[in-house]
Amino acid sequence: MESAGAVRRIASSSPGVLVGVREAGAVDAPPLLFLHGFPLSGAMWGPQVEEFAADWRTLAPDVRGCGTSDVGTGQYTMETLVDDLFAVLDQTVGGEPVAAVGLSMGGYILLRALEREPARFRGVALCDTRSGADGRTGKLARAIGIRRIEREGLEPFVDDFLAAVLAPGTRQTRPDLWHGLKRLMMENSPIGVRGQLLAMASRIDTGRVLEKISVPALVVNGGEDRLTRPSAGQAMAAKIPNAVFSTIEGAGHLSSIEAPGEFNRILRRYLTYVR
Ligand code: MLT
Repeated sequence: MESAGAVRRIASSSPGVLVGVREAGAVDAPPLLFLHGFPLSGAMWGPQVEEFAADWRTLAPDVRGCGTSDVGTGQYTMETLVDDLFAVLDQTVGGEPVAAVGLSMGGYILLRALEREPARFRGVALCDTRSGADGRTGKLARAIGIRRIEREGLEPFVDDFLAAVLAPGTRQTRPDLWHGLKRLMMENSPIGVRGQLLAMASRIDTGRVLEKISVPALVVNGGEDRLTRPSAGQAMAAKIPNAVFSTIEGAGHLSSIEAPGEFNRILRRYLTYVR
């Protein structure tokens, strides 16, 4: 998980705030964008960059507040994160459409970006994510998370989050994976993580974009994802005109990390339709 390409820091959508982008592969290869989940960083895509950088120019930005990106004010909306994504694309690939892969929060960013500027994308892979906005319970859970991080720091929040997102038993059976993810999450700014909670809580429903997606789409779900159930992924795929749906048995919410071999096999097959 440590090597997802060389980091370049570039201007975000806000004056003075820089965001880090992990880049690998040949600059003239077709661009493949990876958008990470909460509260990780582009480093989570190490196994995918290792697999795909031979054929693609991979770009894995760190959302502001995470990894190598600046924190800024800590007051983010989903629009801020999409504005940052467009700033990154403008400064890396210009107007060239990208194949994009978004996991969970990365999928929220991707769906809203698709709604705003569809011409930027030649294919979309939506992993362990959903188009629906938070309801009452979800918003309250975010508010509790924000308060908890403010009072107790990041660590207890991260411990509980990991227990909820990984497949049951992973902490016991794969302690290295658990500790690696925890380290990655703990490297992030508590202010930035709270900002992302705010952005997710206030995001809009992007369901109306699904039926308008005109590029090849892939929807992937860990079979044991308790945050975004496979049935929800399947229902989302059914609304997209040209989508295939796959589940990865034994993986939880972080399917690309928990089962990278199977995830990469599914992604590789899908990318043959996009290239
Ligand atoms: C993620 O993995 O990005 C988060 O679980 C998304 C969320 O909390 O809604």
